[in-house]
Amino acid sequence: MKMKELLLFLSCVLCVSADGQHEDIGIIACSDSDGEMMYGLDGEEIGYADFNKQKFIYPQPPFVNPISYGEGAYGNAVAQLQICKQNLKVDQHDFRDIPLERNAPSAVMIYTRDEVKFGEKNTLICHVTGFYPAPVNVSWTKNGQKVTEESTINVPYPNKDGTFKQTSRLQFTPELGDVYSCTVQHLALTQSLTKIYDVQASSQSDPGVGPSVFCGVGLTVGLFGVAAGTFFLIKGNECS
Ligand SMILES: *[C@@H]1O[C@H](CO)[C@@H](O)[C@H](O)[C@H]1NC(C)=O
Repeated sequence: MKMKELLLFLSCVLCVSADGQHEDIGIIACSDSDGEMMYGLDGEEIGYADFNKQKFIYPQPPFVNPISYGEGAYGNAVAQLQICKQNLKVDQHDFRDIPLERNAPSAVMIYTRDEVKFGEKNTLICHVTGFYPAPVNVSWTKNGQKVTEESTINVPYPNKDGTFKQTSRLQFTPELGDVYSCTVQHLALTQSLTKIYDVQASSQSDPGVGPSVFCGVGLTVGLFGVAAGTFFLIKGNECS
């Protein structure tokens, strides 16, 4: 009894400490033409400054407890961006002989948010990771036609190794015969990277009747074995 209590207590201590390790990040980054100010928690974007819309955006869905950085969040981001750009000018002068580090994306993945059901609204996701510097450009096509304007892309999120990841999303309704593509451009790539999403091919790779047929055959063979075993057992007993 005592041992059980001790184990329970220990596991509680462990779960509390595991629970207490959250990773809160804030990044401010800039280039000559671009900038980013973002707050993240445990790999998720909590809020970022949209310098085109001149607003601070909270991209989490409404069921997540809302976090707010207050009224001044956007103004603060603008001020930080200005400081970043000033520092960048100084750095560009002082480090002008040091070549820029460049890492091409290590992976590009295309997949759907939800299980594919024909005629039902879904989201195609193009996830790019492992690149430096940020950002990447992601463009989309549907049956060869550009549909990039209908897509969205989040701000670059840093990985633990100092590279970045970005995710672009495209609302779509899966229909047989439609083929989508997402194309990624990055400073370190001489040729863009393209991933294809073929609705038909993707639906065929779903596990259909195959496994259930095998399961049915397996069960039948198994039951036959039990019946045969029982038969011989009874026969054997009759003989003795
Ligand atoms: C991304 O797109 C912008 C605007 O079209 C362009 O200026 C920039 O060079 C592109 N970046 C890359 C890495 O291709």
